[in-house]
Amino acid sequence: MYIKDLSKYESQEITLKGWAANKRESKGLVFIILRDGTGLCQCVVDSNNVSETIFNEARKATLETSLSITGKIVKDEKQIGGYELQATNIELIQVAVDYPIAKKEHGIEFLMDNRHLWLRSQRQWAIMRIRNTIIFAIHKFFQNEGFLQMDAPLFTGNAVEGTSTLFETDFYGEAAYLSQSGQLYGEAMAMAHNKIYTFGPTFRAEKSKTRRHLSEFWMIEPEMAFHDIFDNMDLIEHFLRAVVTDVLNANRNELDIIGRDTNMLENIVKPFPRLTYDEAVKIIKGEEDVNGVNAISSLENELADVKNSIAEVQKEVVEREEKIKTPGMKKGEIGFNQAKIDKLKQELADLEEQERNIPQWLNSARTFKYGSDFGGSDETVLTRLFDVPIMVYNWPHEVKAFYLKRDPENSNFARGVDTLAPEGYGEIVGGGERETDLNLLVEKINEHQLPMEAFEWYLDLRRYGSVPHSGFGLGLERLVTWVCKLPHVRESIPFPRMYGRLKP
Ligand code: 4AD
Ligand code: MG
Repeated sequence: MYIKDLSKYESQEITLKGWAANKRESKGLVFIILRDGTGLCQCVVDSNNVSETIFNEARKATLETSLSITGKIVKDEKQIGGYELQATNIELIQVAVDYPIAKKEHGIEFLMDNRHLWLRSQRQWAIMRIRNTIIFAIHKFFQNEGFLQMDAPLFTGNAVEGTSTLFETDFYGEAAYLSQSGQLYGEAMAMAHNKIYTFGPTFRAEKSKTRRHLSEFWMIEPEMAFHDIFDNMDLIEHFLRAVVTDVLNANRNELDIIGRDTNMLENIVKPFPRLTYDEAVKIIKGEEDVNGVNAISSLENELADVKNSIAEVQKEVVEREEKIKTPGMKKGEIGFNQAKIDKLKQELADLEEQERNIPQWLNSARTFKYGSDFGGSDETVLTRLFDVPIMVYNWPHEVKAFYLKRDPENSNFARGVDTLAPEGYGEIVGGGERETDLNLLVEKINEHQLPMEAFEWYLDLRRYGSVPHSGFGLGLERLVTWVCKLPHVRESIPFPRMYGRLKP
C-alpha cells in the first residue's frame, strides 16, 4: 500500500512502510510525517489509543528512521496529501542516528557531497519525478510519430562535436573516445529506418564550471530522412510542446513543491519565434527590440533596481539584528526575527549574484562580435526577452559543426538550428540539416583536422543513396533544468558528473 493511493483506503486500516521525514511530539501525541517515496502522510500516534510500548516506539522514530505503521486512514483536507493515518501499531525497522541533512540550510557543496541522501528531500524528489515524466513523454512522442528507437555505440573512434571535449579511453590498446553524440550513427540508422531516435548517455570533457555543463548527460537525438531544416524546426516545436504539456498534466503537485511558476510553461502552446542568426545578433546588441524591450537598456535598468534592492534589504537586516539585541525581548519574537533575517540574507545572496551577473551579461552583449558563436551570457541576454523557447537558425558555418549543410542561398551560413529556452536558460536543443555534398563534407573534415579514415563509413552515407536529412539533439538535463527553473543543472540528474565532481 502506497501513500499515493490513500484515497482508495479511506476509513480502512492499512499498513504503510517508509521513513520518518519529520517528527513532533506534544502531550500524549506523536506526529510522524511518513515518506514512502510516493508521497507524504501525517501519522498520529495517540497515547490514549495505543499501548505504552507502542507509544514509546513512536517516540524513538528519529529523522529518516525506517518504519512500518498501521492505522486508520481519515480524510483531512488540512493535512499534507489530504489524509491522516491514526496509528494503532508501529514497528521501527532501523533507527537512524544523526541524519546529516537537517532542516536548517546547508551549503551546496555539503548537499552535493551527500547527494545519496539529498535525493530523499522533497524538492529533489519532485525534480526527479518531473525528469521521469519528461523521459516517458519523449519516448511516447517519438513512438507515436513512428520513430524507431535505436542505440548508438558509446565507445567511438571519431569526434562529432569538436576534439577539445573528448574523454579518451583505452580500447584494447587503441584510443577510443566516449561518445559526444550518437548523431553520425543516427544518420546511418535513419537511412535504414527513415525516422529514428537515440536516447543515451553522452560525454563531454568540459573543464568549465558553469550552471549548464555536465561531463556526463543524457541526450535524445532524432534523425529523419527527407527532412529539411524547416521540417526539423516544426518537429522540434511539436516535440517540446508535447513534452512540456505532459509535465503540466502529470506533475502539478511536483511543480507546486518546487515553486515553479507554471504560467511560463503554459506558454508552450504559443508558436516558437524563429530568428536567423543575424536577427538574434541585432537583438543581443540592442539594435533591435523584442516587444518594445531593449536587451541592453532593460539590463541597465535592472542593475540599477538590483542595487537599490540590495541597499534596502541590507538596511532591514541591520535593523532587525539591532532589534533582537533589545534586552527582555521574548524568545518567540527573537525566533521570528531571526527567521526573517535568515530569509532576507538569502534574498540578499540572490540579489548579489545578480549584481555580479548583469554586468557580465551587459559586457558580453556590448562586445559581441558578429560571426562568433553565442556564449552562455549571450544566450541569457537573448532569452530573458522571451516567454517561449526560440529557434535561432542559419549560423555562420565557421562556428558550427562540420556536418551541417551549407545554406544553398548563402554559402557563408550553415543550416544549423539551436533552440533556446526562455527566462535566460539558453540552449536546450542543437541540430540542423546535414550536409549531403560529399566534396563539401571532405573539405570540412579536413578543415576541422579530423582523421579522414575514421569518417569513411560516414561518407559512404553520401555515396550510397544520399538524401536530404535532418536531426537534433536535446540535452535532457538542460530541459529538466528549465522546466523546473533550477539555478544549476546539477540538480537535474540523480548523480551529476561534472568538472570537479565524481562523488558520490
Ligand atoms: O549542441 P550539441 O553539441 O549538438 C550535438 O551534439 C548534435 N550532434 C546533436 C544532433 O544534431 N543530433 O548538443 C546537443 C544538446 C545541447 O543543445 C544541450 O542541450 C546538450 O546537448 N548539451 C549538454 N548538456 C549538459 N552538459 C553539457 N556539457 C552539454 N553539452 C551539450
Ligand atoms: Mg550546441
